Amino acid sequence: MTSPLRIALIIASTREGRFGPTVARWFETVTAGRTDIELTLPYPTDADLPAHWTPNHTPSPPQARAFTEHLATCDAYIVQTPEYNHSFPAP
Ligand SMILES: Cc1cc2nc3c(=O)[nH]c(=O)nc-3n(C[C@H](O)[C@H](O)[C@H](O)COP(=O)(O)O)c2cc1C
Repeated sequence: MTSPLRIALIIASTREGRFGPTVARWFETVTAGRTDIELTLPYPTDADLPAHWTPNHTPSPPQARAFTEHLATCDAYIVQTPEYNHSFPAP
């Protein structure tokens, strides 16, 4: 048996009171019965990423490192993003 595809569902909205987690929870119920998918939700908000930071900055903030290390364990990513001013949120 092959191991399930490990997918990180990244909620791109970090706005206080955001709707994003509601959509993510719905997506969790959709994938719950799938044995070929393992869904993880590494919340960027929980990671408390700094507002001004790029991956090329060294050293990485510890919370950013934990977040990216989590992503490195995944096979695929879904970026669930709202539209802000006809684009995606800056964070
Ligand atoms: C600052 C801001 C800008 C927005 N800009 C757009 C937009 O350009 N087009 C659109 O269709 N909706 C826009 N919306 C609506 C959001 O995409 C929608 O409310 C979404 O569910 C917000 O996701 P969130 O609650 O997870 O942040 C905007 C909402 C906010 C708060």
